[in-house]
Amino acid sequence: MKTCIYPGSFDPVTNGHIDIIHRSSMLCDKLIVAVGNNINKKYSFSLEERVELLNIALKDCPYIEVAGFSGLLADFVREKGVRIIIKGLRAVSDFEYEFQMALLNKKLNPNIETLFMMSNVNYTYLSSSAVKELARNGGDIGGLVPDCIKDKVYEKFRMGI
Ligand code: PNS
Repeated sequence: MKTCIYPGSFDPVTNGHIDIIHRSSMLCDKLIVAVGNNINKKYSFSLEERVELLNIALKDCPYIEVAGFSGLLADFVREKGVRIIIKGLRAVSDFEYEFQMALLNKKLNPNIETLFMMSNVNYTYLSSSAVKELARNGGDIGGLVPDCIKDKVYEKFRMGI
């Protein structure tokens, strides 16, 4: 059974992520969506909340597993017995960071191959940060995140976080 890992912060998951998840799952039998921590980011949603939002958004996809992890991605990938990491690229600006991560992960675990998938042209402008900015200021996030998590995203910012 071919398994791939799609890691990210997902703070919160957007329709851009969901698009990459569905397209990636065509390349494997099982896809693990791995929710981790990026030390350069301050999160609005806890790890548990980010996992919960993904589980809600992907509840009809039995071939997808959502898992939180702490520590290094290379270790998590090894633990799961997986070799392939999939990352989405929206623009050239994403490339430098992702290139560095791919090479670092390869250095830590030479079995890892990182594959890059171009984002859907409809979502190249979309980011979790943009969703949070809109939700915090009462903007419309319809079409940017899955409908089933929209209220939970608004709820987070209604409390002034
Ligand atoms: O969506 P993001 O913020 O690009 O996701 C980044 C994430 C969580 C996948 C990345 O920061 C990560 O792999 N964190 C775990 C720590 C790690 O392995 N860092 C890379 C080697 S220094």
